[in-house]
Amino acid sequence: MQNKWDEVIKLCKSRGFIFPSSEIYDGFSGVYDYGPLGVELSKNIKKEWWKSVVYKNKEILGIDSAIFTNPRVWEVSGHTTGFSDPCTIDKKTGTKYRVDHLLEKINIDCDGIKDLKEIKTLFDKHKKDIKIKGVNVADLSETEFVNLLVESNLNQSKVGKSYLRGETCQGIFINYKNVVSSTNKKIPFGIAQIGKAFRNEISARQFIFRLREFEQMELQFFDFPKKSDENFIKFKESSLEFLLSLGLKKENLRYKEHDKLVFYCKKAVDIEYNYPLGWKELEGIHDRGDHDLTQHGTFSNTKMDFFDEKTKTKHIPNVIETSVGVERLFLAIILDAYTEESLPDETKRVVLKLKPEIAPTYIAILPLFKKDGLQEKAVEIFNIMSENYVCSYDDTQSIGKRYRRQDEVGTPFCITIDYQTLEDETVTIRHRDSMNQTRIKIFDLDKSLKF
Ligand code: GAP
Repeated sequence: MQNKWDEVIKLCKSRGFIFPSSEIYDGFSGVYDYGPLGVELSKNIKKEWWKSVVYKNKEILGIDSAIFTNPRVWEVSGHTTGFSDPCTIDKKTGTKYRVDHLLEKINIDCDGIKDLKEIKTLFDKHKKDIKIKGVNVADLSETEFVNLLVESNLNQSKVGKSYLRGETCQGIFINYKNVVSSTNKKIPFGIAQIGKAFRNEISARQFIFRLREFEQMELQFFDFPKKSDENFIKFKESSLEFLLSLGLKKENLRYKEHDKLVFYCKKAVDIEYNYPLGWKELEGIHDRGDHDLTQHGTFSNTKMDFFDEKTKTKHIPNVIETSVGVERLFLAIILDAYTEESLPDETKRVVLKLKPEIAPTYIAILPLFKKDGLQEKAVEIFNIMSENYVCSYDDTQSIGKRYRRQDEVGTPFCITIDYQTLEDETVTIRHRDSMNQTRIKIFDLDKSLKF
């Protein structure tokens, strides 16, 4: 499996999905850039999520809040005090480690333990059993909690230190009143957002799995408190359905219930993906109760409650949250789609069996040769097809090599323009998964480009 992990990382770089940030300056740990194909795949993932969560639900609306907020947001939400990871430092080398990750290596699960004393005790007790190459246990410092919020020196002297947002949903809570009053929405309804989040991760060393800058796709669903269990189940199920709809294999996804909960949570379940690193969190579904609206309502003196006509009582809405990282999903999708096939001629074919709807390029337009008017005809077809599809154009190398290149990046269809095209306005369509080729009229192309 390690092999697949290495191959996928190599492919991401060589084919322009993901580049290490600032590589020409030795990189910048925990930060990556999307290349030409990566940006398309990431956009398609976000488009599908938005369609599934916002456009298909008349009671869910989208917003796009700023990355910076008044720092009070993070004090009141509890992040300046409660949003931290347990850490130990090698006193000789200065390397920082997450204590829970070190304990995980000897099969001690610290999931959700937020009590420093509890982790400290566990670590002191089991420290001697940790045997990891390069980690000198005797040099490790006392356990301390390191806050994950990224501070900024934004010039807003009146409000003091500000932060880059640590989760996108706080932008939703602080706009709750604005959305209610501008849309006349009444509970039940939801607000969704896609955007950047930043975290001071101690160890960001697993490619794009754990990043310091990443994107989240989050939904906050507001409803009567008595509906919390029902909604929790509903969103737990719909979140899994969405992941399956992107083509992820069922056997690589599972739920993991939490009994130890982070500070804002009443109930939580993760959807885990079977990464080559092991089963790891891909998405979180949380019952946040009324924690955030109560906190922001109280400290900003804003009315967040609603009047229940039936019971003639006032309530703060319950919030069920779904939260999935774009990069973790991107990684799961590429890993799941990555396939190596042995062909009858004993060569190996690498193919990304991406769902066509999210493939970075839908059609590759390939003139057989660069001469005799084939290029011009191919450009003409590119111009027509790119009105409706994301197309790429390639006239380098042999046609066989170009097909393999398109297989590697998951392009569902290749259209080849040859001498016959100039005679009878037909082209060849090659299908990624079957490698079958069919000859059809250019006029009929549109009908043939369905999977
Ligand atoms: N608003 C709730 C929240 O932020 P979380 O479990 O801390 O909950 C939600 O994060 C999702 O965001 C995770 O399931 C994961 O997909 C993604 N995520 C969190 N930290 C990440 C990191 N350092 N790098 C990449 N993705 C991350």
